[in-house]
Amino acid sequence: MSFDLVLFGGTGDLAWRKLMPSLFQAFRHGSLPEGGRIIGVARDDLSVEQYRSLIRSRFDEVELEKRPSPAEFDRFAALLQYLPMDLSRPEDYRRLAATLHERQAQTVVIYLATAPSLFTVACEQLAATGLNTPHTRIVLEKPLGHDLASNRAINETVRGVLSERQIFRIDHYLGKPSVQNLFALRFGNALFEPLWRRETISNIQITIAEDLGVEQRGAFYDNTGALRDMVQNHALQLLCAVAMEPPINAHADAIRDEKLKVLRSLRPWTRETLGQHVIRGQYTTGTVAGEAVPGYCEEAGVDPQSATETFVALRAEIANWRWAGVPFYIRTGKRLAARDARIVVNFRPAPHAIFHSPMDAANRLVINLQPKDGLELHLLAQGQENRLRPRSATQSLTPVHLDLDFDKRFGSERVGAYERLLLDVIDGRLNLFVRSDEQEEAWRWVEPILEHWRQDTSGPRPYATGTWGPSAASALIARDGHCWSEES
Ligand code: BG6
Repeated sequence: MSFDLVLFGGTGDLAWRKLMPSLFQAFRHGSLPEGGRIIGVARDDLSVEQYRSLIRSRFDEVELEKRPSPAEFDRFAALLQYLPMDLSRPEDYRRLAATLHERQAQTVVIYLATAPSLFTVACEQLAATGLNTPHTRIVLEKPLGHDLASNRAINETVRGVLSERQIFRIDHYLGKPSVQNLFALRFGNALFEPLWRRETISNIQITIAEDLGVEQRGAFYDNTGALRDMVQNHALQLLCAVAMEPPINAHADAIRDEKLKVLRSLRPWTRETLGQHVIRGQYTTGTVAGEAVPGYCEEAGVDPQSATETFVALRAEIANWRWAGVPFYIRTGKRLAARDARIVVNFRPAPHAIFHSPMDAANRLVINLQPKDGLELHLLAQGQENRLRPRSATQSLTPVHLDLDFDKRFGSERVGAYERLLLDVIDGRLNLFVRSDEQEEAWRWVEPILEHWRQDTSGPRPYATGTWGPSAASALIARDGHCWSEES
């Protein structure tokens, strides 16, 4: 199947860091359909050769095993084209149309890896140039908009140009192998389903912790913050994956319908819950691997007086029969103690104790997303009896866990998130992409938090780099008698 993949933002951060390395991996694994072109588009006045050598130089920053050899790069580079374009100029779209018409590929993918402010004009111009054919697919990066109104405006423009099945709203967390495995665990195995409910589960924790700071994206991040960057999309998509009802089949709309129902069931915020159940923080200076690193306000591109949050912890509830009363805690932040993303399902303790067991030791299922990818099931067992201690009438139990490491089991060379999602776009598979109504519902739920922060001038709480965020995040969960999983 021939395809043209047009990459708007072809010299941008996302193209270098994620898209080109993922396309190369797909090429190396032989999964990229033959007869494709990858056309980088950006304002820079570059020749094709200059673009190819820029990309070659960027591969030096990629992990060693994912770097192409010179011969591999030459074969990959044969797919790469470059077109300088100013996205606001109609004549530049006419040049793009001429390039695409040269070969009439069966599928044309337009990937908008640009600032969201350019989405609308790009879509209007694509339509005006007749590039919105039935063969066209468009990929939109998150965050799509800045709030509900801007999200709706973008979605309306894009839907005015292409039908919903041609629109691929990307959330790369859905492409992670660990998230696929969460779906497999829940809907391919019957074991946990009877337990997956309020009667047996005490609370669920979703953590996406990063040890990195804002890197070279200070200006973008300062306008965005952790709530828009991580919670509105990645964290809520994980929440949907863990809380949704089993879909009737594995088709895109069946899955999206169930995710939408979860988002619609999120308990709306009140003045009280906004004050008590949402914590924002901002990192200050500290050391990482023995080296001093700047605080958020000293990062390049960031306003020195910035009140942008780099950390969010919150307590959500899902108001339906399955989950009523079960707290879902979400926590995400930059410059935290470790890179660690996981979902922890804490089960209720045994209803009647006939053994001694350590405080707070109940069964727990941990879905490790990264850096480890796997499952841990925590149980209580009768350990070695201690010969030095006198026997007591009541036996003591010890926490132990079963550990399933998917990297060891399936090999760490599995298909990465962007690689899988890019191939899905080329093949036209929508299962792992977000529908507009899901996105709108997620914005509707986070907007009151944004509004509350606009009015509350106390700003984010400082936390030192290399910690787990402000202490208020521990207090948030301790009020319910729980603690974050790394603290237990
Ligand atoms: C992106 C955010 O969507 O996800 C970044 O914009 C964040 O700020 C990144 O660093 C995290 O992705 P991953 O796959 O490294 O966990």
